Amino acid sequence: MRADTAYHGEMGERFAAQATDSAYNAHTDRPAMLRLAGDVSGLRVVDLGCGAGHYAVELLERGAARVVGVDGSESMLRAAERRLGDRAVLRRHDLEEPLTFLEDQSFDLAVMALVYHHIDAREQLLAEIRRVLRPGGTLLVSTTHPTGDWNYFGGSYFSDERVELPFDGRFALSYWRMTLERFLGELLGARFVLEELAEPRATEKARLADPRRYEKTHTSPSFLAVRLRRP
Ligand SMILES: C[S@@+](CC[C@H](N)C(=O)[O-])C[C@H]1O[C@@H](n2cnc3c(N)ncnc32)[C@H](O)[C@@H]1O
Repeated sequence: MRADTAYHGEMGERFAAQATDSAYNAHTDRPAMLRLAGDVSGLRVVDLGCGAGHYAVELLERGAARVVGVDGSESMLRAAERRLGDRAVLRRHDLEEPLTFLEDQSFDLAVMALVYHHIDAREQLLAEIRRVLRPGGTLLVSTTHPTGDWNYFGGSYFSDERVELPFDGRFALSYWRMTLERFLGELLGARFVLEELAEPRATEKARLADPRRYEKTHTSPSFLAVRLRRP
C-alpha cells in the first residue's frame, strides 16, 4: 500500500483524533451517511476503510447486529480497537486487494465513508462489495465533492488525476479527483442502483464548535454521499 494514501503511523493518529469532533467528519459527513443508513437494527454491516471506528460505534449503538471493520492502517485500527473493544471484528487489509476473507452475501449493509477516492482498484472493490452484500442490500459511499475539488485544485473540472491535499500541516492526503460523471458512472457501472444522493452540510452542532468551517460547508460543497441498492 502506498504510504501517502493510507493513514499510517502518526498521520493515522492525527486523523483518528480529529475525526471524533471535526466539522467535516463528525458534523458533516457522518450525520449525512447515518441518515442515509436509516434503521440499521439487526443488520450485518461491513465498514470498509473503517478508520478509527467512529461509524462502527454509531452503527452498533443504533442496533446493528454485527460490524466488521476493515482498514489498511495499523494506527487507525489501534484507535478503532480502543473505541470498540471486542464489540466489532477488525481486520487489517489493503482494499486494493479482493475481500477474500468475507463470504458471499454475508452482509446487509456496506459502508464506505471517505475511502473510495483513495483507491486505484475501484472496479474490483465494487465487484467485491457486490459479492459480499446480499441481494437487496445497501451500499453507502461518501467522497470528496467534485466541485469542491475543482474549487480547491483549480484547472479543468474534467481532470481525472491523483491530487494531494495538505493535512494537519505536515502530511498530505493523496486521492483521485473525479467528476460526478465518473463517480456515479463507476457505481452504476458496477450494477448498483442509486436510491439517494446528498451534498452534506455541517449540522448545527458544528456552528458552535467551528463557525468558520460550518460557514464553509454551507457555501461551498465538501462531500457527496450516496445510498445504493444491490439488486
Ligand atoms: C478519510 S479516512 C475515513 C475513515 C472512516 N471511514 C471515517 O469516515 O471516519 C480514510 C480511511 O481509508 C483507509 N484507507 C485508505 N486507503 C486504503 C487502502 N488501500 N486499504 C485499506 N484502507 C485504506 C485509511 O487508512 C483511512 O482509515
